[in-house]
Amino acid sequence: MSDPVSPPQKPLAACIRGVTRSFGDGGTKLLVLKGVDLDVRCGDITMLVGPSGCGKTTLISIIAGTLAADDGQLEVFGNDLRKMSKAAITRFRAHTIGFIFQQFNLIPTLNCIENASVPLLIQGCSTRLAEKKARALLEQVGLGEHAKKRPSQLSGGQQQRVAIARALVHDPRLIICDEPTAALDAKNGLLVMEIFEQVARSPERAVLIVTHDNRIFSHANRIASLDDGKVTDVHDADGSSPLPDHIANLAHG
Ligand SMILES: Nc1ncnc2c1ncn2[C@@H]1O[C@H](COP(=O)(O)OP(=O)(O)OP(=O)(O)O)[C@@H](O)[C@H]1O
Ligand SMILES: [Mg+2]
Repeated sequence: MSDPVSPPQKPLAACIRGVTRSFGDGGTKLLVLKGVDLDVRCGDITMLVGPSGCGKTTLISIIAGTLAADDGQLEVFGNDLRKMSKAAITRFRAHTIGFIFQQFNLIPTLNCIENASVPLLIQGCSTRLAEKKARALLEQVGLGEHAKKRPSQLSGGQQQRVAIARALVHDPRLIICDEPTAALDAKNGLLVMEIFEQVARSPERAVLIVTHDNRIFSHANRIASLDDGKVTDVHDADGSSPLPDHIANLAHG
């Protein structure tokens, strides 16, 4: 019988257990992830914080399927990424995940519309439809009048918003962002967080954000701390308890 008091469990977008990852070998081997456990729930904005170099980008790259774990268990929407072929992971990623890179990774020779269209073109969508959707998203992130410019003609914050439009254009179920607001001023940071909140309002979608920007913590449902290769605590940011000091004291920007 179900417990009448507990709220229903949210389904998991990602379930990570005991994930390890190292770089290099022999005397130079660096064990970065030492057994990470983390649940990323649908309907949530989950934020991941931790000191520079602690493995945040490594962990989200593993969840996104662009980097393999050495060991442990990893399911994304119930799919065991460690058992899938590279081609299957690429297909899965193209449909399911929107990834915003720390360094944006825009294609310099393409304009904003073309950059933001890429995920739909990879899925086989017509150029006309892909560019129509890309333009609508660029307008949503406040870049309508820059749509025909190339990345080199844009500021850092504008490039970051093109990267955000590209990550959203194919309506992915899991949005993963590496420092999405670092280059944004307060107004555009809020605009972007409101877009992520719209996404996470859907019970089938999830947003996972790496950040050290304390201006956006109020938008989180949960904040997970990564330190020394492990998730050391997960704070439920429902307002019932204050932020732990190590999170509250993070500087923004
Ligand atoms: N491809 C790689 N080859 C070798 N070492 C790597 C590689 N990628 C990451 N590392 C190392 O792994 C550690 C974790 O890197 P990672 O980029 O995941 O950190 P991070 O928490 O995202 O840091 P930051 O907040 O500065 O972005 C660092 O010491 C880094 O030098
Ligand atoms: Mg990083």
